[in-house]
Amino acid sequence: MTAKVRPEDVTPDPTIVQVSLGARSYDIVIGRGILATLGARIAALRSGARAYVVTDDNVARYALPDAEASLARAGVGASRTTVPPGEASKSYRVFEQLCEAIIAARIERGDLVVALGGGVIGDLAGFTAAVVRRGLDYVQVPTTLLAQVDSSVGGKTAIDSAHGKNLIGAFHQPILVLADTALLDTLPEREFRAGYAELVKYGLLGDATFFAWLEAHWHEVFSGGPAREEAVAIACRAKAAIVARDERETGDRALLNLGHTFGHALEAACGFSDRLLHGEAISIGMALAFEFSARRQGLVSKADAARVVRHLTETGLPTKIKDIPGPLPSIDQLMQLIAQDKKVRRGMLTFILVRGIGAAFVEAGVEEREVRTFLNEKLAER
Ligand SMILES: NC(=O)c1ccc[n+]([C@@H]2O[C@H](COP(=O)([O-])OP(=O)(O)OC[C@H]3O[C@@H](n4cnc5c(N)ncnc54)[C@H](O)[C@@H]3O)[C@@H](O)[C@H]2O)c1
Ligand SMILES: [Zn+2]
Repeated sequence: MTAKVRPEDVTPDPTIVQVSLGARSYDIVIGRGILATLGARIAALRSGARAYVVTDDNVARYALPDAEASLARAGVGASRTTVPPGEASKSYRVFEQLCEAIIAARIERGDLVVALGGGVIGDLAGFTAAVVRRGLDYVQVPTTLLAQVDSSVGGKTAIDSAHGKNLIGAFHQPILVLADTALLDTLPEREFRAGYAELVKYGLLGDATFFAWLEAHWHEVFSGGPAREEAVAIACRAKAAIVARDERETGDRALLNLGHTFGHALEAACGFSDRLLHGEAISIGMALAFEFSARRQGLVSKADAARVVRHLTETGLPTKIKDIPGPLPSIDQLMQLIAQDKKVRRGMLTFILVRGIGAAFVEAGVEEREVRTFLNEKLAER
């Protein structure tokens, strides 16, 4: 079964957000039912190019037939590989198979790769495109909310190492991002909700108006329709602006890591398993970043921190360490994971903190023992 889109639901005028990176600039096209325009858009960008579609078994069921039909209608020749769903596909083994399959399909410089899927497929296919034949163009067709508002934009691509996630990677910008919000209709609710945490992140880090809008409209974002498109567009605009200022994360782009230092440590402590999805970890991480900031003088008020927790909670997202099912890590484990994630300099950690909702900043001088005391209290809440 593919996502059901009635003709009258197809966005006649999709929203276009430009990522301005000089010669590497590209459009993010956002709308309902626009997967049908994939082939024509590719043909317009790269006349005569062939496409190699990379997807996973779940997405193949829901979106591959429509994607391939669109390519065929536009006369774009296509081959495909389907990989198993899940993070395990961001491995050397799957990467190797994909490289060989693309070369065997005689995809040349001038042809392109289409990443049809969530963040796993985007990262894997994007990284493969970055290195096969010293670089092929690629198109992102994100099919999860997380991928539509975050991973498909900005050109970070990677596979995982035994030493940690995303350690083998490259910056490689796509030539087009096509975000069809109707594809999210088939996404399991838990996955949608996890992606929603990243959406909230944009409000919290730099746009208080957007956060207030989400408080009022989150139901409509979940149920689909114009509010969902609007939210994806606002998030993409925010990410595009940050990426245009700081493509390689030497400054501002770090703000996108709001909630991620605490979040990554919790995710790692759960072994990156189904116990805690990435977005769920980020939801807890953002709540912790607000509560931690509220303890520091002159930063965000306790009332604002509580407001953030309230909104995340009403959507069904976890906000406390004790919300994680099963055994919890010890404080030593957590501190070790945080130290691994963030370089520690003379006992000082770098965190993204907040002055208020919509006002995040990079703080390089957070004392390790301050974090330890705070997390100890949070662990004791259980
Ligand atoms: N490159 C970046 O900037 C960046 C940013 C954030 C996250 N990431 C990466 O993204 C990955 C997580 O991405 P994700 O959350 O999209 O996970 P995912 O790609 O694993 O997708 C989640 C699940 O949803 C299924 N699915 C996808 N689209 C569907 C649809 N339309 N209908 C039904 N099921 C569907 C998938 O098969 C999978 O089982 C991680 O590997 C993370 O490291 C990258
Ligand atoms: Zn994230």
